[in-house]
Amino acid sequence: MSSQLAPLAGRAAIVTGSGRGLGLAYALELARQGASVVVNDVDAAAAQDAVAAIESAGGTAVAVVAPVGPTSTADALVAAAVDSFGRLDILVTNAGVLRDTVLWKMSDDDFDTVISVHLRGTFTCVRAAATYFRENGVPGRIVCIGSPTGQRGNFGQTNYAAAKAGIVGMVRTWAMELKRAGVSVNAVIPVAATAMTATVPYFAAAVEADAAGEPMPEFFRHDLGFGTSDDVAGLVAYLASDAAADITGQALGIGGDRIQVWSHPEPVATAYRDGGWSFEALAADLPGLLDGNLQSVGERFPALPESLVRPAPTA
Ligand SMILES: NC(=O)c1ccc[n+]([C@@H]2O[C@H](COP(=O)([O-])OP(=O)(O)OC[C@H]3O[C@@H](n4cnc5c(N)ncnc54)[C@H](O)[C@@H]3O)[C@@H](O)[C@H]2O)c1
Repeated sequence: MSSQLAPLAGRAAIVTGSGRGLGLAYALELARQGASVVVNDVDAAAAQDAVAAIESAGGTAVAVVAPVGPTSTADALVAAAVDSFGRLDILVTNAGVLRDTVLWKMSDDDFDTVISVHLRGTFTCVRAAATYFRENGVPGRIVCIGSPTGQRGNFGQTNYAAAKAGIVGMVRTWAMELKRAGVSVNAVIPVAATAMTATVPYFAAAVEADAAGEPMPEFFRHDLGFGTSDDVAGLVAYLASDAAADITGQALGIGGDRIQVWSHPEPVATAYRDGGWSFEALAADLPGLLDGNLQSVGERFPALPESLVRPAPTA
């Protein structure tokens, strides 16, 4: 597995939240491409199982069981890479939780928990890794995990939308700040069948097929770009490789058979008025500027083919 010909041979990676789901797939793929991996999770058994899975496939891994969010965890992750493997080259910030509910029912704790793990966890881990990369002259690779919810908004996900949009905002900033150091920073916007998506009725037929070890229906893999965690992992490893040295500041969507380049926000219409825009001037001219330029929000979910509709679970 760690032959000298492997693209990531001799490199060391940290993957947060890699005890299961997408993070586990990223850790396994980075190891398959030759990297040694620091597995991180709050679930000790899942983290140990992940290390065992990597080792039984011929790779090298250690576990750090700690919650991302606090600076102390970020420092412990970098220290584990340096102590165990003598270096750090790759960071994937993937750990995540959901506390979904509509705005008017969302508690302070729901909001703070999601912000702490996703947004603060990404900030503290990237700061620790970037500091190491700059101090040691390492052209590091950073991959931060976003979500279609952060890109487009989603009903019931105020906290998660804030965190994931914030992560892509930080990625754009870090790509600028770390360019001179030769460190790339990109966002991956995944969609896959995991514990996180298993309870969404819309995806039920795909999750059902996956659990039965059958291929997911073409509608999910192709039309929706929804597949397995393994479908996402290749892109994360590719962005960590030398082949992707010049790719930075990007947000790439991936899932099933689909890959996409996301745009960053740009003005879609611009107008000028000498002296600026008073209420009266806006009343006269803004409708014309907005005409044909109003933006949509939310992800687009096409109607499921009849054969793939599953009843919503009763509470
Ligand atoms: N599954 C999808 O379709 C999808 C879509 C968009 C984005 N994502 C993102 O991908 C990432 C992984 O999602 P998943 O679907 O694999 O979820 P998952 O729930 O299957 O796995 C998340 C892992 O993170 C761990 N974790 C939770 N809090 C942690 C913390 N504070 N510190 C360390 N580990 C922690 C969990 O124990 C779990 O093992 C998340 O950031 C998620 O928001 C997933």
